Amino acid sequence: MTKSIFVSLFALASVTGLQQAAADDGRTSLFLVDRAGVIGTTTTSPAFDFRGPFFQSLGTNGRSCASCHRAAQGWGISAEEVAARFAATRGLDPIFRANDGSNCDHNIEPSTVEGRRRAYSLLTGRGLIRVTVAAPANAEFNVISVLNPYGCGDTSTLSLYRRPLPSTNLRFLSTVMWDGRESSTQTGTQKIAFPTNPGDLLADLAHQSVDATNGHAQASTPPTPQQQQAIVDFEMALATAQAIDSQAGKLDDDGATGGPAALGTHTAAAFFVGINDPLGGNPHGTTFTPVIFSLFDAWLSGRSHGDDGRAARRASMARGQALFNSKPIDITGVAGLNDDLNADHIPGTCGTCHDSPNVGNHSVSAPLNIGVGDVDSPLDVRYLPVMTLQNKTTLQIKTTTDPGRALITGLWKDVGRLKGPILRGLASRAPYFHNGSAPSLADAVDFYDARFHIGFTPQEKRDLVAFLNAL
Ligand code: HEC
Ligand code: HEC
Repeated sequence: MTKSIFVSLFALASVTGLQQAAADDGRTSLFLVDRAGVIGTTTTSPAFDFRGPFFQSLGTNGRSCASCHRAAQGWGISAEEVAARFAATRGLDPIFRANDGSNCDHNIEPSTVEGRRRAYSLLTGRGLIRVTVAAPANAEFNVISVLNPYGCGDTSTLSLYRRPLPSTNLRFLSTVMWDGRESSTQTGTQKIAFPTNPGDLLADLAHQSVDATNGHAQASTPPTPQQQQAIVDFEMALATAQAIDSQAGKLDDDGATGGPAALGTHTAAAFFVGINDPLGGNPHGTTFTPVIFSLFDAWLSGRSHGDDGRAARRASMARGQALFNSKPIDITGVAGLNDDLNADHIPGTCGTCHDSPNVGNHSVSAPLNIGVGDVDSPLDVRYLPVMTLQNKTTLQIKTTTDPGRALITGLWKDVGRLKGPILRGLASRAPYFHNGSAPSLADAVDFYDARFHIGFTPQEKRDLVAFLNAL
């Protein structure tokens, strides 16, 4: 049944433009305009508490979690919005802090607008935050050089340029952070696994809230256990997805099941770690299905009320969904798959890696290197530093723009491996990939086409992009 969206203006300084509405299922929803239409978030809490610790400055530099995790950008940030924030505040909003917001923390001129514009160019241009990670002392490799165009070329503590991951849809996580560092014994956190979930996840998120407050917000005292709990409760209650497409209309209309409501209820209730693992990791032994998304099945026929533009757009999304679920991809050279399975070619689809039903992340922790951070990526990564690593035993050399999981485990085979993120709410938070190297979803699709020689037709690309925009 379609329910009408009643939005009332909810004015609050730190969350300008937020709209909050009580839906007829008793849940509260937020609807905000994005590039493709409207992004929606539901909460299982009675209301959104915009005054809780997630929105408070808990450190010393004025930042809150919401400086980098914003409802209108699917609880991440978009480069476009950050650039607008720079313009509106002349680069003085608390996101513009040199500890990790600037390209480097030294040799910058933060006292003038021009100086700030230069210092924060990766944040305003690509939505990137500088994450610093030291290689473990017992690593299988040495970092032998770092060529960083912005300075910050230290080889013991590396500067990595990464996109904030959305602080929503967290129920579906099989690892926390791009490199899984908040779900790793090496950092005193827990691996997320079927028997211990969701307790492992909740503990990891509490730990993450402390690290984020100490790091991003430069706190002198960590958040209290009560504050940690309130932050985790707030985040865990959220479900976010594109709710309306400006051409296709409501994404849960006419039998379709897009939008945040179905995600937060049915999909969340059905989820468990390993729910659809291609390598046989389902704890109940259920076999893998490549049919990951079923949101727009009802629109495949192309039949719809009203004007033709809407019907055409809906049919395009449904075709895009079918491509995601079935277009053959010859997976080669992916660290974490081809090497671990000792197979040069693995016949797959998008869902071989994005396997969680109607969510699209990996349903078990499986860090992979698909080549996004490789120096020879089909996308332009020349704005990133180049790091050269050498294996201590074999003396083999690897160059990369981000060693990824290897900086946590110290393992040579983990160089460049990162998690596949949740594929919901994409339209609200460009650019894409951990390093922001795909400015648009069309660029992300072009990356796959070039990297895996898929051979998408122009029409197939348009359909796939229409589908990704509707997630
Ligand atoms: C300065 C920007 C910034 C601030 C402030 C910030 N974060 Fe983040 N957040 C990031 C970045 C960047 C990442 C990804 C880093 C990585 O994986 O290496 C991230 C990742 C996360 C993740 C992981 C999601 C996933 O899919 O694994 C969660 C949860 C999160 N942040 C919550 C918070 C909370 C809670 C706060 C406040 C206590 C906070 N963040 C403050 C930038 C920020
Ligand atoms: C071999 C595994 C694999 C396959 C196949 C694969 N992906 Fe990915 N995908 C990943 C990984 C890993 C990432 C994260 C990469 C990174 O940022 O370094 C990712 C990231 C993405 C992102 C960016 C999400 C974000 O929040 O930035 C999109 C969009 C995406 N994939 C769509 C697709 C589509 C569409 C297909 C099929 C054409 C596909 N993927 C096939 C593993 C895969």
